[in-house]
Amino acid sequence: PAPLRILGIESSCDETGVALVQTQAVGWPRLLAHGLHTQMRMHAEYGGVVPELASRDHIRRVLPLTEQVLAEAGLATRDIDCVAYTRGPGLAGALLVGAGVACALGASLGVPVLGVHHLEGHLLSPFLSADPPEFPFVALLVSGGHTQLMRVVGVGQYELLGETIDDAAGEAFDKSAKLLGLGYPGGPALSRLAEQGNAQAFALPRPLLHSHGLDFSFAGLKTAVLVQSKKLPTDEAALAQARADLAASTQAAIVEVLLKKSLAALRQTGDQRLVVAGGVGANRALREALNLACARRGVRVHYPELALCTDNGAMIAMAAGMRIAAGVDTPIKRYAFDVKPR
Ligand code: KG4
Ligand code: ZN
Repeated sequence: PAPLRILGIESSCDETGVALVQTQAVGWPRLLAHGLHTQMRMHAEYGGVVPELASRDHIRRVLPLTEQVLAEAGLATRDIDCVAYTRGPGLAGALLVGAGVACALGASLGVPVLGVHHLEGHLLSPFLSADPPEFPFVALLVSGGHTQLMRVVGVGQYELLGETIDDAAGEAFDKSAKLLGLGYPGGPALSRLAEQGNAQAFALPRPLLHSHGLDFSFAGLKTAVLVQSKKLPTDEAALAQARADLAASTQAAIVEVLLKKSLAALRQTGDQRLVVAGGVGANRALREALNLACARRGVRVHYPELALCTDNGAMIAMAAGMRIAAGVDTPIKRYAFDVKPR
């Protein structure tokens, strides 16, 4: 089949992402160009994502970004063979922007469109790297909204092994960071502060570490951090150290749970490959712990490039390209779009 150029649009939360991939005669699609605009600064003032502001900013950014990506690839809109967008999950208004633009573009160009599941984008994001994983593998999906362990047998063949019963791992980072007076998004800030702290200073819970199979729970950890954050010393120097210690202890608790459950999933499936995706996959302590434990067991760990761990358009274009290449999806010229916030 002739190569297809697929434009991907991501707008589920606070990043506007646009990218172009091209399907290949052999192997998975390849990334031609991608562009990203993060709204982080805009939302930081409010301590979290403000949905209405997110939608409006996506509207402002998505077409200029599309033009930028096309220019970078040396292509024009007439070279687009298919338009993919994030159908969900995410913020309804934000999703509608990407879906609306994708379908308007598709209709005006007379090309098919394809809605993609945001988590499938994260899951397949390591295929954007030079050294992509082989199937099957276990995937640890750790983002701001989701924490899941999946068995991935092929494109579109996903088995849920376990997931969080309350907060997501990214939420645990973000909420703990807030309790420590750190800005939004809390994950990167907390992990920076943790570098100066002692991870053994506070004994924090590791919920469900030895129970409930491969499911996770992080709500109890947040409560424990809340209790400890109220008992911090008032002396300035002592306070600074105690905050760093609490950050390090919190990170260690989250990392230990993610590590142990991932290893348990690998034992259960017998797989020799682990894929880590989603924003929390950027966490250095998590990467170090997983790399060390997996090296000992002869398991290969694959991560997306650091810049493609958090939300982006490349993973959406890639997921669409892989679904088409694998024959699990045939995009159609139907422009009555839908979104699935949940
Ligand atoms: O995948 P993502 O960009 O968006 C969702 O789909 O949710 O993930 C965002 C999450 C946030 O909770 C953020 O705090 C967390 O990923 N995060 C990190 C780091 N970088 C991003 N958490 C810990 N350490 C990091 N370095
Ligand atoms: Zn995401």
